[in-house]
Amino acid sequence: MTKQLTFFDIFSGIGGFRIGLERAGFKSAGYCDNNKYAVQLYENYFDTKEEFYFNDITQINTKELPDFDILCAGFPCQPFSISGKRQGFEDTRGTMFFEVARILKDKKPKYFILENVRGLLNHENGRTFETIINTLHDIGYSVQWQLLNSKFFGVPQNRERVYIVGHLGKDYPPKIFPINGIAQEKVKNIVSYPFIKKGYQSNATYSPDGIMGCLTTGCAGFIGDIPANEVKNPKDIKFRRLTPKECFRLQGFPDDMVDKAFEIGISHTQLYKMAGNAVTVNVVYAVASQIAKAEEENAKS
Ligand SMILES: C[S@@+](CC[C@H](N)C(=O)[O-])C[C@H]1O[C@@H](n2cnc3c(N)ncnc32)[C@H](O)[C@@H]1O
Repeated sequence: MTKQLTFFDIFSGIGGFRIGLERAGFKSAGYCDNNKYAVQLYENYFDTKEEFYFNDITQINTKELPDFDILCAGFPCQPFSISGKRQGFEDTRGTMFFEVARILKDKKPKYFILENVRGLLNHENGRTFETIINTLHDIGYSVQWQLLNSKFFGVPQNRERVYIVGHLGKDYPPKIFPINGIAQEKVKNIVSYPFIKKGYQSNATYSPDGIMGCLTTGCAGFIGDIPANEVKNPKDIKFRRLTPKECFRLQGFPDDMVDKAFEIGISHTQLYKMAGNAVTVNVVYAVASQIAKAEEENAKS
């Protein structure tokens, strides 16, 4: 049997990485996030008693960190997102990547998994991404990446994100990508009929294939009251806002997490924000499974 690898969950939010990595057989060593509501839900939902917690990544003294094998981080994406001002490293949130690099440099875990918006690839004509890849390479990692869309991983959401995986050492890195739809299960509907509408009623667009647009922190998601294949005139459709539970489902989170959030009094506004900020669990699971497979093959050889 291979040794159970541990991970450290940076920018942990509500634990999208954690659920995906645990499902693939890995164990948490600790987590870091400075949003009090996300941490409140994380600590009430997961058993974190034996784990290390850090509030602000910029204040982490790496000597105080536990050892771990995988670092995972969906670093803040607003500075690179086409819906933001795109100030990149000029925005303090953009410099969070360098905090991740600092931890990698000092701790040298065997693997890392990073996630960010598609816009990271072409920000500043590709120079930002080049800086990121070169920095990771200089620390000693072989680096591979792929743009993955959540809609191919069992959730009806059109969410494209770049996943970057590093392996310590530059010779013979395990092949993680491409992931060619290994998890392309049939798209699961989040409500009982295949009709999901994106945008506000005034500029209604609707998707008869039942695939929702990319979830945002404000939950611009609305859903129609008639199954898509029964719509005769789009004007007849009445829309309602997606519930927090439906938004969590769109990201692959289990329903009982939202039940726990309600139980501890977290507001709908915060829940919409958490769901929109999160990483899709199913995609993390697919990437983490590739690492697990590489480790098993390595143990056999
Ligand atoms: C894109 S979200 C990551 C969400 C997470 N992957 C999930 O599945 O929920 C970025 C997270 O970084 C956190 N964050 C931002 N600045 C931080 C800092 N200086 N230290 C720790 N966490 C920070 C935010 O609170 C937010 O939860």
